[in-house]
This record gives sequence, C-alpha cells and structure tokens, in this order.
Amino acid sequence: MSAIKIALFGLGTIGTGVADILLNRHEHIRKVTGHDILLARICDKDIVSQRDTYISPDILTNNPDSIFNDPEITVGIELIGGIEPARTFVLRLLENGKDVVTANKALLAEHGAELFAAARQNGRTIAFEASVCGGIPILSSIATSLQANTILSINAIVNGTSNFILSQMEHGGTSYSSAVKEAQKLGYAEANPAMDVDGTDAVQKLAILAQLGFGAAVNWKDISRMGIESVDAIDFKFANDLGYRIKLLAVADVGEEGLELHVAPTLVKFDNPLARVQDAFNAVRVVGDYVGSVFFQGLGAGRKPTASAIAGDIIDTVLGRTKITFNTLNLWKDDKEVMPIKRSDNFYGKSYLRFDAEDRPGVMRDFAAVFSEKNISIASMIQHEINTINDNSSKQKAVIILITHESREGDLLAAIEKLEKIPSIQGKIIRMRVQD
Ligand SMILES: NC(=O)c1ccc[n+]([C@@H]2O[C@H](COP(=O)([O-])OP(=O)(O)OC[C@H]3O[C@@H](n4cnc5c(N)ncnc54)[C@H](OP(=O)(O)O)[C@@H]3O)[C@@H](O)[C@H]2O)c1
Repeated sequence: MSAIKIALFGLGTIGTGVADILLNRHEHIRKVTGHDILLARICDKDIVSQRDTYISPDILTNNPDSIFNDPEITVGIELIGGIEPARTFVLRLLENGKDVVTANKALLAEHGAELFAAARQNGRTIAFEASVCGGIPILSSIATSLQANTILSINAIVNGTSNFILSQMEHGGTSYSSAVKEAQKLGYAEANPAMDVDGTDAVQKLAILAQLGFGAAVNWKDISRMGIESVDAIDFKFANDLGYRIKLLAVADVGEEGLELHVAPTLVKFDNPLARVQDAFNAVRVVGDYVGSVFFQGLGAGRKPTASAIAGDIIDTVLGRTKITFNTLNLWKDDKEVMPIKRSDNFYGKSYLRFDAEDRPGVMRDFAAVFSEKNISIASMIQHEINTINDNSSKQKAVIILITHESREGDLLAAIEKLEKIPSIQGKIIRMRVQD
C-alpha cells in the first residue's frame, strides 16, 4: 500500500486538531479507507513552539513553496484563515495539481467563484464541510443525501458564540456585556467578537448554504443582517411570557418571488427544535419537498469537532468521493439557473417590537394610527411595569411589547421610523423577527 501524501497550512487551533486526528488515528483511517494517508508536511509561521500534539520537527516548514512544488503531495489543507495569503495558497495548490480542503468560510464567501473556477479549470476539487457548522455534516448532506429534493427552506443557528451569549442571558439572567465576557473567558468568543455578534459570520455561512441548497448566486454583503447587540435581558422575559426563545437565526426560505435570506435575532416558538438549541451548539433544519423536515445539531466550532469534519473531507478527497460531489455541486457555477433573491422590503413575517412610551391616555391611539396607516395589524400586546421617566418630570412610562401579524417588511420599517418620531415614544424601538 503506497502512502498518499498530504500537507497542511496553519498549525493553530484547528490545524493542531487535524494533525492530532491524522497522526493518532492513522491506523484506524488506514483500516477503514484502505489508504495510508500520510501527513507529509506542515507549514506554519511558527515551527518552534510546542503544540499539544507531538509533531515531528522533520515535517514542519515555514516555506510554502516546499509544498506547492512537491509533486508527491496530492492534497493541501488550508487552515490559516483570513483572505490573504489563504486565497493565494489555495490558488497555488490548485495550479500545482493538488486538491484542497479548507474550513475558511470567509475566504469562500468572498472568493468562492474565483477559487471554484480555478479548481474546475485545473480538474481539481475543493472540500469545505468544516466552513459551515464545524462538526455537523450539513454541506455533504445537502449535496448528497438530499440532492433529489427541492430544498424549500433552511433555518439555522450557525454561530455558536452568539448562541452561547443568548443562552447565558436567558438562563443566567446576565446582561449582554457580562455574557460576552463569559464567552471570552471560556474561549467561545475572540477578544474582538464583532463578526460573531453583528451577524457577519452567520451571513457568510448562510451565503454558502444558499448557494448550495438553492443555487443562489448571492454576495454575503447583500444579505439582510441584524446582530444580537441590541437584545436586552428583559427581552428574554417578555419572549418567554409569549411562548418564545430568542435565537440568532439564519434563514433561507423559498417563496413565489424568490429566495428570502436574512440573519436576525428571532423569537422562536418553544416547540420548534431550534428553540431548544443551547450554549455553543449549532443546528440546522432543512425542509425538502420529499424528505420533509430534517434536523441536525452539534458543535459548530472547536478543535475536535472541526477536525472531525476536515478529516472526513480529506478521506473523501483521497477516495475520490469529493470529485463526484464537486462536479455536481450547484455552487459558484456560471451556467446554473440563478434563483432570484427577494428584496428585503418585500419579506413578509411577524415581528416583535419593544419600546418605552409615556403612560397617559391617547398614546395607544397615536401608535395604533401609525400601524393602521402602514397596514400592520397587531397579534398580541403586553404593557409592562411602570417607571418614572428620567427627565426630571413626573411623567410615567410603560414598556410596550407587541407582536404583529405577518406584514411587509418595508411597511414595518416605515412604521417604526414614524413611531420613533412621536414624542410620547421614548428612544429607539427594538425589533426582532418572530418564527412560529
Ligand atoms: N476555531 C474554530 O473553532 C473554527 C471552526 C470552524 C472553522 N474554522 C476555520 O478554520 C481556520 C483556522 O482557524 P483557527 O481557529 O485554527 O485559526 P488560528 O488558531 O489563528 O490558526 C491559524 C494558524 O495559521 C498560521 N498562519 C497564519 N498565516 C500564515 C502563513 N502565511 N503561513 C503559514 N502559517 C500561517 C497562524 O500563525 P500565527 O498565529 O503566527 O499568525 C496560526 O498558527 C479559519 O479559516 C477558521 O475560520 C475555525
């Protein structure tokens, strides 16, 4: 049995996990695949520091050319992250006749079209299961087991950091900033968690899911995005009273006018399985026309789950399975029928609104008039605790929480803009989507 030589770029959190699984499970992988997969070289900027897993210094290098130019290496694993030099490394691997495995969703969301074109041109493949939801085999499930279906919707929790923060706020009763600090302490959030909490990471993953599931040629920057920064601990109590939990949901939903895509904090009904996904877990619910609803849950990040997905991709690539899937993927292809993307103004859905208003007769009439003018009807409303407004007057205020019936997003946003100008309404109106 001759060895199949592969190489790895980036010996960080995930790279060390991949080295660990390839070195420590070498015999197991050989038995189940019938191939001797040899991690022949690892390139990192730092080839001196000790890692958790013992790695022979003989295979470490800081010279990427020693991998690009080695004809015996057939697969390159890109785990350095970011855009450059990751993009150049992937292109050079492909140009040098090597298949690629990557976990880099930012790179694919930004340069997927270019990289996939280069792979097709060079007769090579790119496997990227770990780029969306870490250890959950969601991309391969959509691309293989579910491929006879027309996918109707994908609803997912794809960012473990924000799910952890929301879970802390809900169960620990902590504020948003304390929950972020706890996430950082436990290693779930980076020192700068902006891309996780503002929804950027989630829209990048949703762009990949939308390409794969619906053939939607969408730029992640064009996807409607709201982060979790404006969610307050009080919203969990109100949501709970109304029978909902709050989750950062990534949604792709096919309607008559095209595909609706958005990432937003969303009130999810208790009995929806997505509502029960806690802490740093990810989950994806896919609805296909034949299969119905299927639900996946697991860890979307971390060394071991992500390494598990990458090792699966390496094995598929070595066995030639990636080649079969890659050629049938409805992803970043020039010739595919493009699914139209709905303008966010035309989304239809229920919304949760929270705002403070002066507690005096006539105020309700003021905002009811705005809703009526914009064709928005209210499904339920709660008025909560009365506090004194902090403006040295003796005015009282009420917290108003309401859930609208399905309404057009453009109308709702116009109503919110108008409501925020009414003097009796204090401050900004907090809005979240609602999913029953
Ligand atoms: N962490 C997760 O849970 C997770 C989950 C799913 C997907 N991913 C994806 O997996 C990839 C890797 O993430 P990670 O968390 O392992 O990142 P990481 O810990 O920062 O590791 C990246 C490694 O690559 C090295 N590197 C950077 N530039 C290099 C270059 N030019 N040449 C050689 N080595 C270079 C870095 O060295 P320095 O530290 O010296 O810069 C570091 O050792 C990213 O695309 C990420 O989005 C991560």
